[in-house]
Amino acid sequence: TLFEQLGGEAAVTAVTTQFYANIQADATVSNFFNGINMADQTNKTASFLCAALGGPKAWGGRNLKEVHANMGVTNAQFTTVIGHLRSALTSAGVAADLIDQTVAVAETVRGDVVTA
Ligand code: HEM
Repeated sequence: TLFEQLGGEAAVTAVTTQFYANIQADATVSNFFNGINMADQTNKTASFLCAALGGPKAWGGRNLKEVHANMGVTNAQFTTVIGHLRSALTSAGVAADLIDQTVAVAETVRGDVVTA
């Protein structure tokens, strides 16, 4: 699975931590996370990604369409955030084809997150 190829839960969590660091350093998208506990956010998104990448634990959290409703995320902002995931994967030394496949999995939630 992609989960295994990336190096399992620890590797996915490390990439997710860097992903949110990149987001928080970008004023065009950081405001969405004002007041959010980023340690919890990192753990939840890492758990979601582990499941989506074929990991052994099903996602036990909330439905992503309901979670992101009314945030007003645009397609452009989502694309920016996907770029931050790509950067995090690149920083971690993940191979290019594996990056593309992982980004493709993250792209499957675009329709749940984008509402504007
Ligand atoms: C939750 C924003 C993209 C997965 C949240 C929350 C915010 C947020 C503010 C916290 C909601 C709350 O606790 O009240 C955004 C923005 C995005 C984005 C602005 C893009 C522009 C994504 C993507 C993923 C994702 C790409 C998955 C790959 C999650 C998960 C939660 C969450 C798993 C927690 C759900 C739960 O509480 O069970 N998001 N998100 N989000 N987001 Fe996103």
